Amino acid sequence: MGLLKEGINEVIATTRFNAAPMGIIYRNGQMRMALYIGSHTAQNIEKERWIVANIIHDPVMYVTTAFSDLSQDTFVSIDVNDRKMYYLANSEAWIAFDTVIEQRGVESMTVRLASLHEEVLSANVCPVNRGFNSIIDATVHSTRYVISRDPALKKIIDYHIGIVKRCGGTRELEALELLQQYIK
Ligand SMILES: Cc1cc2nc3c(=O)[nH]c(=O)nc-3n(C[C@H](O)[C@H](O)[C@H](O)COP(=O)(O)O)c2cc1C
Repeated sequence: MGLLKEGINEVIATTRFNAAPMGIIYRNGQMRMALYIGSHTAQNIEKERWIVANIIHDPVMYVTTAFSDLSQDTFVSIDVNDRKMYYLANSEAWIAFDTVIEQRGVESMTVRLASLHEEVLSANVCPVNRGFNSIIDATVHSTRYVISRDPALKKIIDYHIGIVKRCGGTRELEALELLQQYIK
């Protein structure tokens, strides 16, 4: 079955020297991504037809890559079937995928993924932490909130901020501080 599990896997996707949190939808033995056309990830997939999914449990990385760029020295190059791809230096595991665009609309596109190679770099045990989960949730909603300023989204974000404050550790609190700067 590989490293990803059934359902939606929240990973940090690398495409060239770009990294962004993305969901990989794994259902009925098929892996897909649903992408907003405006993202660099979508643009890079259209050009180069590959992505690498990085499995990372650092909450700061999710906030950082959702809202800004990483320096090029955080990317490690690898040769996969004679194609140069990149994973993140602090990745715990990575999976390289070939991509096929199944459907492309004006605002979004669906991409089917075929796994080419995967590697585990560190085997960390990650106890469930609601603060970490809420950073992920708050960050997803924040990426839409900065565009729409929809008060309903703000209410959801504030709910998750409360959980991060109650359940998060130092790294979640650091991620929260960063997130609050981005959504000000
Ligand atoms: C956990 C998480 C999952 C996300 N999943 C997706 C996704 O599946 N598709 C998408 O288009 N955007 C998704 N986003 C939003 C993108 O990460 C965000 O728009 C980002 O700015 C895109 O960066 P890029 O332009 O460098 O690709 C997700 C955000 C988070 C925090």
